[in-house]
Amino acid sequence: MDVEERDEHSGHLTTGHEWNGIKELNTPVPRAVYFFLSLAFLFSVGYWILMPAWPFGVSYTKGLLGIDQQKVVAESLQQAAVARSGWVKKIETEDFATILSDPVLMKIVRETGRPLFGSNCAVCHGTDAKGGKGFPNLTTPSWQWGGGPENIANTIRVGINSAHPDAHSSQMPAFGREGMLNRPDIERIVDFVYSLSNPESKDLNPEGVKAGKDLFAANCAACHGENAKGNPEVGAPNLADKFWIYGGDRRTIYTTVWGGRQGHMPTWEGRLSYIDRKILTLYLVDKRQPDQ
Ligand code: HEC
Ligand code: HEC
Repeated sequence: MDVEERDEHSGHLTTGHEWNGIKELNTPVPRAVYFFLSLAFLFSVGYWILMPAWPFGVSYTKGLLGIDQQKVVAESLQQAAVARSGWVKKIETEDFATILSDPVLMKIVRETGRPLFGSNCAVCHGTDAKGGKGFPNLTTPSWQWGGGPENIANTIRVGINSAHPDAHSSQMPAFGREGMLNRPDIERIVDFVYSLSNPESKDLNPEGVKAGKDLFAANCAACHGENAKGNPEVGAPNLADKFWIYGGDRRTIYTTVWGGRQGHMPTWEGRLSYIDRKILTLYLVDKRQPDQ
């Protein structure tokens, strides 16, 4: 700057820069800024001295207070493990009825069961456990392999048509494809099966239903029962209720009887611990909605 120029309104010097007649004033940085800068500097020096701060190759300055985050984490993990071992022991040893009637344990079951179900079962059964086509709804009172806690725990353990040596074997024969029944007879059986869950339906063919009933007794009752209410011994589902794995419309029932069905559910023994499988069983029993 050659000539110092003073602004006549504020009395400050200008920097000498000018844009379209507007001149920049050379005002000092406010004191408050220096004040807070020094404060921050002092704070950081204090922090370096008191807390772990500077790395030295393999070690670091430990700070006068001796705080070690690693130790803090290890301690809180240990505390969590102690808290967990209390309820884990109870869920592991108590019987199903006792746990189901214990509101504190059931709260833990719901909290831990949800993520367990979400990461292992939801891909097939849905996050709400209500299933989808080919994957059963696990919130109904209708169970292929029995809905008691012991049955459910066992199904989860061994799986269905899985690689487990004790796996449930679910074999709905392919009556049409294997030539055990001809098309007209299958149509009649489908009429009968459809009539069970849709007794009010207008498009029922009474002749077909009647003939289908006899054919059902001869071909299907051995597994699905005389009254078609299913048999948990062989995993044959109830055909007289409104819950379906594959579908209860005529077309789907026809497809099922023509081509058979062999659902596959993995075994969870070896993949989930005993306690995790027990939590999942309790979670499902708790989720069951009896009146749908
Ligand atoms: C790969 C898909 C798949 C996964 C993952 C899966 N399931 Fe299944 N699950 C099935 C199928 C399919 C069936 C029905 C099998 C059949 O139709 O015979 C089934 C049946 C069941 C049944 C028997 C239902 C009844 O009516 O008796 C239970 C209980 C069950 N699953 C629980 C679980 C739990 C708990 C998990 C998570 C640990 C799980 N499933 C994960 C596919 C799966
Ligand atoms: C050997 C035993 C056995 C016989 C015999 C049998 N079923 Fe099944 N059926 C099953 C099993 C097991 C399943 C479940 C298949 C699965 O989900 O893996 C099933 C499933 C079904 C389903 C599907 C139900 C749903 O929820 O979607 C229908 C429908 C059905 N059977 C009808 C019949 C009819 C009709 C006959 C006679 C023509 C018959 N079954 C004979 C064992 C049998």
